[in-house]
Parts: sequence; structure tokens; C-alpha cells
Amino acid sequence: MEIKSLLEMHGQSHLMRDYMQWNEAERKQFEQQIGQIDWSIFESMNAVWEENSGDISPIEGLSLREIETHRSEYLKIGTEAIRQGKIIAVLLAGGQGTRLGTSSPKGTYNIGITRPLYIFEQLIDNLKKVCTQCDAYVPLLIMTSEKNDEETRTFFAKHSYFGYPASHVRFFVQEMAPCVDFSGKLLLEGRGKVATSPNGNGGWYRSLERAGLLKDRLLSNAEWFNVVAVDNVLQRIADPVFVGATIVSGKKCGAKFVRKNRPEEKVGLLCQRDGLPCVVEYYELPERLATLQDSSGELVYSYGVTLNYLFHASTLAEIASQKIPVHTVKKKISFLNEDGMLTEPDEVNGYKFETLILDMVRLMGSCLPYEAEREKEFAPVKNKTGVDSVETAQKLLLLNGVIL
Ligand code: UTP
Repeated sequence: MEIKSLLEMHGQSHLMRDYMQWNEAERKQFEQQIGQIDWSIFESMNAVWEENSGDISPIEGLSLREIETHRSEYLKIGTEAIRQGKIIAVLLAGGQGTRLGTSSPKGTYNIGITRPLYIFEQLIDNLKKVCTQCDAYVPLLIMTSEKNDEETRTFFAKHSYFGYPASHVRFFVQEMAPCVDFSGKLLLEGRGKVATSPNGNGGWYRSLERAGLLKDRLLSNAEWFNVVAVDNVLQRIADPVFVGATIVSGKKCGAKFVRKNRPEEKVGLLCQRDGLPCVVEYYELPERLATLQDSSGELVYSYGVTLNYLFHASTLAEIASQKIPVHTVKKKISFLNEDGMLTEPDEVNGYKFETLILDMVRLMGSCLPYEAEREKEFAPVKNKTGVDSVETAQKLLLLNGVIL
């Protein structure tokens, strides 16, 4: 279809305003970008997802005490799986880290005090401990976005992969989604360039597939993907005990959780919806449930997810074609104003579209909630200061004996 009619059909003709003033390369880029837009995401602006309704109930998980009782059995099974190359680590590093306020990839952030210690470096150090313990390297796939791919790769190369063998590392780029203003109109971020942002962490498997990595020989024995966030500096990647426990459980997915430290803590909550495992975002959980206590005064809904999941590989392949909800997230989006000048807004001015990994838990059909010790495994770096910040993460790293 001709570009003009296509845009008219979707109520986006305003984008054509300066079309005649763009040069050929700019027009070509624009047409290509428009041609690739998945228009179905716009439906999410008014959608009420069926998956997000239904009866919420608690889900039973493995407590620290239970894990301790079976530790040696889990460790043995997990270690064996790692040695056989069955566990593939996936590091989600495509986010923009807007709350941290850095334009560079979050993993390149220096959290050291007396010496440089980059987030990526700390995560690789954590992974290397597992490799030493299991006497095997874990294949590591790093998801980036168009906005930070080159910088991320260059950073790893410059630092010699922080001592991890490059032969066991692959990068892949996630897809982008267009951004709109509050009335659903696409924005331009340059001449002939639609404003875009990474399409959320829920598309990691599709992006991996698109990148052709599922056929990579590094993944030839893959049975589980251990998907983790870049911003938890105490993240245990490929934790053999977690791996073993998930395998023994016979479930298709494992999710590490920490007990919420207060009802209003901003973490996704692992529970059940209509009998299926699911993660409810903190802002979707009714206050009545968030504060509900049992007879001993404990929170009934207390499993906060740490974004450390194990996904069964063949189940992932089965559900790959199923749609997951697209969430609209309010955001500050730079855009070209009426005079063609790039404007950086001070306040949120539009939406980005994201799919979220937490929505995959439900699709997996079954899930083992696995408790992690908060002080040892959960130090997210979301903000510069305050809650979940560089400061709080530094304190926790020091507490765990990391030299900063
Ligand atoms: P967050 O939800 O904290 O988003 O990501 P963010 O983009 O890093 O930070 P803010 O919200 O802009 O401040 C959780 C994890 O998911 C990854 C992030 O890199 C982080 O590891 N992520 C997020 C992606 O890989 N791609 C995305 O599109 C979004």
C-alpha cells in the first residue's frame, strides 16, 4: 500500500507534513520504518486484557528452609545440567535505564567507590563463581537494543569480557516499538525518523529466534533459559541449586522471589490467577490483597519477583506464537516540534509500548516459586538515590564482601 494511504488508514497522516522537504535517504528510512510497524500494538491503548482479570490466590513456593533441607540434592542435579550445557543464561540489557538517568547502557554504570566496578563486571564476577564451582562455562546471551548495542559490545570487548571467554558469549538485538503522544499520534525524533523505544523485555525469546541464535551450536544442548535482569548486582546467574530445584519440581518455569519487605514495595507479585501461576504488577494488586495478613501476622501475598526466571526451552518453543499483552507505559519522549526542532520534554508526554517477561510465567502453565535471601541476592539499581538505588546496592555489595 502507498505510504500516504497507509498512514491515513491509521490516522497518522500528520507525519507526512514535511515529507517533501526530506531528502531521499530520509524518505526511504521513513517508509521502511512505517512499513515495519506492527499496528496491532495500538489496540493495547484501550485494551483490557483477559489475562489480567480473574481470581487471585496465593501460590505455594519453596521456602529457604525447604531449600536448605534439599540443598545437596538440588546442587548435584543443577551442577550436572550446567556441565552438560543445558542451562543458557540470558542477560536482559536492552532497557533504557531512564530512572537512573544515564544515556549509556545500564551495565556500563560504575558502582565502585575506591575502584571502578561496572555493573556488567559485577554480574560476570557472579557468573564466574558458578563456573568455577561447576567447572564449566555457561553460555551467556546478552540482549541489547538498537540504541545501546554497539556501545555494549564495544564495552565488553574493551574490558576483555571481564575474563569470561568470548566464545561463550553472544549478543542479540531486541526489537523497537514506536512511541506516541497521549492522543495516540506517532512522534518523529528526527527528519524521516519515527520516535521508537525498545519493545520491553517480554520479546526476548522472539528476538533470540529472529537473530538465529536458537540454531547456534552454543545452544545445541539447551534445555533451560535462565533469564535475568541487568540491574540486580547481587543477581545469581545460573544458580545450580535453583536449577536443580526447578528440574526436580517438574514445573516448566522457576521464579526466584524475595519476601516483600512492606506491602507497598514496588515489585511484581508471584501468585495465581484462576489457578494458573502469574505475576501481578505492584500497581495492579488491590490494596486489600497487598496488605492481607495470615493468623501469624505474615503477608499472605509476599512473593516479590527478582527477575530471575528459568524457562523450559521446549515449552517456550510451543508457546512462542502466542500473543502476550502489550502494556502502555507513560514516558518522556524527545520529539520534533512544529518548527522541526528536537524537543526534550520535562514531563512525560506520551506512551511507549512494551511486552513484559512477567506475562510469560502464566503462559508456561506451571511455575516453581523459589525463595532467595533478600540481603544476599537482591540489590536492584533502578535509581541514582533513595529506594533501589546505587546507594542501596553499594551497601548490600559491601555487606556481601564485595570490595568497592
Ligand atoms: P526495567 O523495567 O527496570 O526498565 O527493566 P529499564 O529500561 O532498565 O529502566 P527504566 O524503567 O527506564 O528506568 C528490567 C530489566 O529488563 C530489561 C532491562 O535492561 C532490565 O534488565 N529491559 C527492559 C530490556 O532488556 N528491554 C526493554 O525493552 C526493557
